[in-house]
Amino acid sequence: MTSPKNAAQRRRLICVRAGKALESRFLFNARAAARMTTLEGKRILLGITGGIAAYKAAELVRLLMKAGANVRVAMTDAACRFVTPVTMQALSGQRVWTDLWDPQVADNMGHIELSRDRDLIVVAPGSADFIAKAALGLADDLLSALTLARRCPLLVAPAMNVEMWGHPATQRNVRALRDDGVLIAGPAAGEQACGETGMGRMLEPEAIAAEVEAFFQPRLLAGKRVLVTAGPTEEPIDPVRVITNSSSGKMGFAVARAAQEAGGEVTLVSGPVALAAPAGVARVDVRTARQMFDAVKARADACDVFIAVAAVADYRVRHPAEHKIKKRAGKRLTLELEENPDILAYVARLPKRPFCVGFAAESRDLARNARAKRAEKGVPLLAANLAQEALGAEDNALTLFDERGEHPLGRGPKIEQARKLVAHIAAMLAAGDRPAGRAAAGRRARQPRS
Ligand code: C5P
Repeated sequence: MTSPKNAAQRRRLICVRAGKALESRFLFNARAAARMTTLEGKRILLGITGGIAAYKAAELVRLLMKAGANVRVAMTDAACRFVTPVTMQALSGQRVWTDLWDPQVADNMGHIELSRDRDLIVVAPGSADFIAKAALGLADDLLSALTLARRCPLLVAPAMNVEMWGHPATQRNVRALRDDGVLIAGPAAGEQACGETGMGRMLEPEAIAAEVEAFFQPRLLAGKRVLVTAGPTEEPIDPVRVITNSSSGKMGFAVARAAQEAGGEVTLVSGPVALAAPAGVARVDVRTARQMFDAVKARADACDVFIAVAAVADYRVRHPAEHKIKKRAGKRLTLELEENPDILAYVARLPKRPFCVGFAAESRDLARNARAKRAEKGVPLLAANLAQEALGAEDNALTLFDERGEHPLGRGPKIEQARKLVAHIAAMLAAGDRPAGRAAAGRRARQPRS
């Protein structure tokens, strides 16, 4: 390339080079995001203790293996009474370890060697007895000994009778484990094998596998406060009828979960949905667009990232009826609608605004509509999807739009799409990106790029 002749040419060249550097950073992040979707290369030791939930450990091994993990299984004597090591060996494709005094292990050092090359020990089910031993640091069988001798983190999925779980001794032991940095996944509430009902059921294998996957996510949003809106809003017509959008909330909840996994401190403002909040996420339930607006307004100043996934009703009924509107045969019913506040546009214009991400669900012309919406809302990043493919579905195919252009994320489960979105947000934050538009230019001038 010939040397640049004047200042303008030099500036252009610098911009091109900076653009290339950013481009390669984004490519790197896209590859990292793709890798994040599995447990490829992760080495896990699964400890199984004695409890009826031990049969679910077989499914857990299968799920972890399917996600690409190398799974080594160690079982207590009691676990072997519920499921056989042969089952676990067949599923994990590896020898199963059960004996602290196994003569085949050189120097009887199995309790140390078995966990040395592992990235994580998962104990599922974790019995009250195992939890008590781990809390005290006892090591009188193979699993408790290798747990004590470990260098890697430990995740326990407790499973026991409701009274055992509620006993002060168990609660004290669980607190001790948490204080020691052990991750506790569950338990859940529900019907138990013993016929009683309450807390103590082991989480389902899918939920435990999700916790394991979450554990391995890079902490891309560590220290960031993230506010997410999700679900539809409901605008009352009368006490029994509403105007709403068909949104399940699945995408927004997945985004909240991905942000939490990435180390963010997440608040989720949710419209009416039938979903449980992801673990570790603070949830605020609202019904109408104005309630969602109030909940966001009260928190927007104190967040670093705002991700508006909610399908907010654009209009509300001006005068909702106090009592149920009766059908009058042959008569038309006219509702007068007024506009709801645009929550995202409001936050994007705040003087002290967070990094704003919008969502667009379009039925056609995805790219054209998404670009227009990004500009109209004044946000640096917009995630677009086709409504007919995304609404209520488990999978999605997001395309991200930012000032560098279009970034299709491929198709996949909503949690994977959400993780890729979080990786993209983190990359943009690291690159010092600010809101798009005129207002942003002023802000950029005031705030040095980090
Ligand atoms: O204009 P439209 O509703 O299509 O914009 C979609 C984006 O704007 C989404 O991110 C949605 O959460 C947000 N939005 C909002 N408040 C509204 C309407 C939309 O935050 N009243």
